[in-house]
Amino acid sequence: MENTIENNVTSMPRIGDKAPDFKAKTTKGDIQMADFAKDKWIVMFSHPADFTPVCTTEMSGFATRKKEFDALNTELLGLSIDSIHAHLGWVSNVKEKTGVYFDFPIIADIDMKVSKLYGMLQPNESETAAVRAVFFIDPKKKIRLIMYYPLNVGRNMDEILRALKALQTSDEHGVAMPLDWKKGDKVIVPPPKNLDEMEARMKDDSCEKVDFYLAKKSL
Ligand code: BEZ
Repeated sequence: MENTIENNVTSMPRIGDKAPDFKAKTTKGDIQMADFAKDKWIVMFSHPADFTPVCTTEMSGFATRKKEFDALNTELLGLSIDSIHAHLGWVSNVKEKTGVYFDFPIIADIDMKVSKLYGMLQPNESETAAVRAVFFIDPKKKIRLIMYYPLNVGRNMDEILRALKALQTSDEHGVAMPLDWKKGDKVIVPPPKNLDEMEARMKDDSCEKVDFYLAKKSL
C-alpha cells in the first residue's frame, strides 16, 4: 500500500524516500509539508508528550540552539500527539518558568495521522505517544537521515547538529564523513571506481592515503 496520509497506515519512511506529504495544525498556524520551508532543510522531530520532563529538556535544547539551525538554512518542526491547547499551555508554561521560548512550529497530531505516516508511533514502545524521532529532510524534500530514540532516553543536540552539518558538507563537496567527523576535520574522498582511477589515486599526493580505497583530505 502506498505511503500516503489518506491510507492512514503505520509506515516507516526510509532514507532516500520523498518526505510523505501532509497537512497539519501547528503552534504557528496550518502547514503542508510539500510547501513548508521551501529551499531549506527541515529537522522534524517528535516528542512523546507535552508537560513531561525529558521532552521539556529536549524542546528547550532545540529552542536555545535554534540560531545554529537558522545558520544552517534549516527550519525546525516539532510534533506530538497532543492538542494545540496543550502545546500552547506547555510553551507558555516553559517560557514563564525558564525563560525559554519554543519559537518554532509544533504539530498538534491529535489524530495521530502524521505520527503513523512517519513511523513515529511504535506500538510496542507506546500505543499513544510518539517515540523520539528526528527526520532530516533536504531542500528537495528527500529524507536523508532518521533517528529513533525510545521514550526514556533524550537525544543529543550536538549529534543532531553534527549530523546536519555532515549531510550538508557531504552534499556541497561530494565527499563522505568518517567516524566522529566534525567541522574542520578531514573528509573521505570517494573511492576510485575503476582501475585507471585506482592507479591515479595511488599517485595522488594531494590526499592522505591508507590505501587506494581509504583517502582523506582537508576541505
Ligand atoms: C518524558 O519526556 O519525560 C517522558 C515522556 C513520556 C514517557 C516517558 C518520559
